[in-house]
Amino acid sequence: MLRTHTAGEIRISDNGKIVTLCGWVQTVRDKGALIWIDLRDRYGVTQLFIEESKADKEMLKLVRTLGREFVIKATGTVGERKAKNEKIATGDVEVLVEKLELLNASKLPPFTIEDETDGGDDIRMKYRYLDLRRNPVRNALILRHKLAQEIRKYMDSKDFLEVETPVLIKSTPEGARDFVVPSRMHPGEFYALPQSPQTFKQLLMVSGFDRYFQIVKCFRDEDLRADRQPEFTQIDCEMSFIEQEDILNMFEGLIVHLFKQTKSIDLGTFPRMTYADAARLYGSDKPDTRFGMEFVPLKVKKENIDLVSGKDFAVFDAAETVLGICAKGCANYTRKQMDELTEWLKRPQIGAKGLIYARIEEDGSVKSSVDKFYNQDDLQKWAKAMKAEKGDLLLIVSGDDNKARKFLSELRLEMGTRLGLRDRSKFSVLWVVDFPAFEHNEEDGRWYAMHHPFTSPKPEDIHLLDTDLGEVRANAYDMVINGVEIGGGSIRIHDRELQAKMFGILGFSPEEARKQFGFLMDAFEYGAPPHGGLAFGFDRLCSLFGGVDSIRDFIAFPKNNAGKDVMIDSPSTINEAQLKELGINVR
Ligand code: AMO
Repeated sequence: MLRTHTAGEIRISDNGKIVTLCGWVQTVRDKGALIWIDLRDRYGVTQLFIEESKADKEMLKLVRTLGREFVIKATGTVGERKAKNEKIATGDVEVLVEKLELLNASKLPPFTIEDETDGGDDIRMKYRYLDLRRNPVRNALILRHKLAQEIRKYMDSKDFLEVETPVLIKSTPEGARDFVVPSRMHPGEFYALPQSPQTFKQLLMVSGFDRYFQIVKCFRDEDLRADRQPEFTQIDCEMSFIEQEDILNMFEGLIVHLFKQTKSIDLGTFPRMTYADAARLYGSDKPDTRFGMEFVPLKVKKENIDLVSGKDFAVFDAAETVLGICAKGCANYTRKQMDELTEWLKRPQIGAKGLIYARIEEDGSVKSSVDKFYNQDDLQKWAKAMKAEKGDLLLIVSGDDNKARKFLSELRLEMGTRLGLRDRSKFSVLWVVDFPAFEHNEEDGRWYAMHHPFTSPKPEDIHLLDTDLGEVRANAYDMVINGVEIGGGSIRIHDRELQAKMFGILGFSPEEARKQFGFLMDAFEYGAPPHGGLAFGFDRLCSLFGGVDSIRDFIAFPKNNAGKDVMIDSPSTINEAQLKELGINVR
């Protein structure tokens, strides 16, 4: 080893010891007679100290050439610092340097390598290896490492085997586009990168592996968001001879273990909510349950509720659904604030047509933006339905059922944020269960699997496969924490006939199904056990533990918002010869 200690471990108990440290120059403070250098490595920062009068000439010459991020090796005696620094673990000590060696020089870095850096996003991505020297970024990866270790510990203790599955595969339909890789040996043919190891883990169950997991890279060519990367990592799991209840318990156990080990938080038992209730109360299949503000129906046809029609307000008369939320203590929102909130809701990203509101005044009367149509009696009924009190603000949207719920869901989250109800140090976990098996796409008139085509319908709903696809529920579940879908999975079909029927419903001809999934259907003829599983988004889990929205910070070398790695300049063109070899004609 070039060093005896790291820059994070020397304490006052080491006083008088001779130590050798290696690392990067964080700062040099040259006061002439006295010189201090902050030496940084992965473990911390240690102050080096040089007295001009006692140092030899060569060393002084070297010290005065040092710049930020130079790599040095320093040997000296540990002493007590005069001015202590309580902010760092090594803040009581310094090393009086007797020997200094330059291991490597550095160009001036394009941004400061400090917790609060002056570098913008683009420049830090381009020089990601320098960004990774900064504490917050390194700590994010340390957290990721710790979580991965704890996950492996838990899974191993429950007899799961970690098995690697291939990366060059054939496409698995998970709903996103595939990244494809051309085959040189088979011109015109392509591998696909896995969107998940779904079919392989099911085959491992057919092979009798019983309990499988893998911390695995997945690839999806989809539009990016803060919680989405084109390549991301799943904690992918599958079990045999189980029912849904067993899966929920096993993986609730994993998350409880992680919170206990890394945050000393006891999450208790996770509540469960049906998809139907999540849609009814929060307009979302991933509700943020850190706060209430549940939807209150003012008009919902299928629930036979109507407190708004027949008063000549055409918008509500025509609407399939009218819903509200009660924002506690917000009656003092000014006209300007209400206009701003309405505009926020009308942005193309959300696309609502408008927002109706009503205030509960100090005298208990209700003042609304639709006073022209509704009298006090009407408005008091609304306030009662919404359990509103003096000082509260009712926010009401309308439209077709799906849209009204989507708009109000966005507004609810926004109000939660504005009212400070989405505290990052609080964790609200739940399972959303009983997802619909299918969703209908209005554009092409086809039915799609809501989860994926291998998900088993609920046995009691199988008869509906022939009559009412929209009503079929699946044995599918998502784990949601603080409004983020952390993981999801299902009990799988293990019966060849049912799987073939499913492909048919999803619009695959028997030939197409055979071509794409023949291997799986064949496998189901050789004794497939009942099985099921789930996958967690590992990057999302890390960002949740780290208290940050963006998963990028928890990936060593992420892609930017345009899906590019600006450091290595990827994706990039390849040369003509390579293209020719691959049998690809691109102009
Ligand atoms: P699903 O598609 O729901 O299920 O993915 C599982 C979890 O992976 C995370 N995730 C992502 N994280 C970051 N970037 C992305 N682009 C991204 N896409 C998904 C989410 C999600 O909950 N094979 C099934 C699992 C199963 O049925 O066992 C699957 O992949 O946190």
